[in-house]
Amino acid sequence: MNTAHPGMDLNRMSDFPRFPSGFVFGAATASYQIEGAAREDGRGPSIWDTYSHTPGLVAGGDTGDVACDHYHRYPQDVALLRDLGVGSYRFSIAWPRVVPDGSGPVNPKGLDFYSRLVDELLDAGIEPAATLYHWDLPQALEDRGGWRVRETAERFAEYTAVVAGHLADRVPRWITLNEPWCSAFLGYSVGRHAPGAREGRGALAAAHHLLVGHGLAVTALRSAGVREAGITLNLDHHLPATGSAADREAVVRADTLHNLVWTEPILAGRYPGTEEETWGELITAQDFRRDGDLELIAQPLDFLGINYYRPVVVADAPYRESDPARRVATDNRYAETPMPGVRRTAMGWPVAPDTFTGLLVDLKEQYGDALPPVHITENGSAEDDEVAPDGSVHDTERVAYLRDHLTALRAAIDAGVDVRGYYVWSLLDNFEWAFGYDKRFGIVRVDYATQERTPKDSYHWYRRLIAAQHA
Ligand code: NOJ
Repeated sequence: MNTAHPGMDLNRMSDFPRFPSGFVFGAATASYQIEGAAREDGRGPSIWDTYSHTPGLVAGGDTGDVACDHYHRYPQDVALLRDLGVGSYRFSIAWPRVVPDGSGPVNPKGLDFYSRLVDELLDAGIEPAATLYHWDLPQALEDRGGWRVRETAERFAEYTAVVAGHLADRVPRWITLNEPWCSAFLGYSVGRHAPGAREGRGALAAAHHLLVGHGLAVTALRSAGVREAGITLNLDHHLPATGSAADREAVVRADTLHNLVWTEPILAGRYPGTEEETWGELITAQDFRRDGDLELIAQPLDFLGINYYRPVVVADAPYRESDPARRVATDNRYAETPMPGVRRTAMGWPVAPDTFTGLLVDLKEQYGDALPPVHITENGSAEDDEVAPDGSVHDTERVAYLRDHLTALRAAIDAGVDVRGYYVWSLLDNFEWAFGYDKRFGIVRVDYATQERTPKDSYHWYRRLIAAQHA
């Protein structure tokens, strides 16, 4: 039954949103979440191996050791993509597979895996879109300071040059970093992502070095002849809990911390004007920024990748921690409050597709011509899927989520935002970071005991939506 939209036929073709010709439909995954084969063919350890193997940090004690075993089953997964009819597949490259120690010798077997994957995709008529960093930092680099230190950005550029030198002839679209907000703040301030640090200054230094790494990587990609280079940000659409001045100021702090810290340097070549108010002496006393960094970070991009899942309603809140070193933590000085009257996904995230349109339209208003064409590099929903006796998964809520977000995206295009592509998250159920395998985002179910893949109703719906564009 369609509980999200009673009386609406989610399969009716006339209900499918239509997109401009040339619009790219895709699906996305990330290395640590699907590959497995964590100790095979010379792969070095990453910070997520360390984090997930530390008792108590990941739900159920889950790790990415095996995951979806995509490392061995990639031909089957590419066949699923081909049957789906997507024009592009976004995957990420595991840095510790290619450069096991983060610097020094390159591992030819690691490069070879991605080379075979890319060839398989091209044979299936699918354009590869590669993310260079989706959070699996080589542990050896974390041991030397991780993103807190500039050296990591420099090593990232070297690794990028190696990968691009190998694949740029066959991979047209490149994403330097995925959601650097998570790497910097969940990783070094909140501690809910690897490496699990809880610092103030360390997180701000990490944010800056990620930006520098992005700039250096763009330079390396250009040298390899790449013509489609971008970065993927998880921009939040913040709404004030009430109309009070305090809540509106909390929205400015949340915007600074989540969005402006990235969009201002990357799109406008400046640091956020509101950063002192947000971070106080942690940012005024900074010593990690150098002359010339902004020019490096603000290089022209061919697209901006945006991952969008949910709106965030914020209210003013006092500091919850006595330790001022944690003041950049997201739970400080504002609190996320529930959004009344809307459904929540299995992640507890409110479903409000209009806010997707709002985010994109606001961004266009804010940056005008400085906003490059946009690709939605992730959008999707975790649901408590049930398997029917015949093995099928009738994930009506996910279908409704996708349909409503694609409709909202279409509205943003109509309002003048230049959006070129959309990648559903995710092709497969996979390792959802600190939530382990419990949260399922896939349009294809994975039975982790057997590694059997079963396309869900959402897969079939998405396939029809893509086919309907050409009808
Ligand atoms: C964003 C991340 O890039 C991806 O790795 C994660 O699984 C999804 N969001 C869902 O939380």
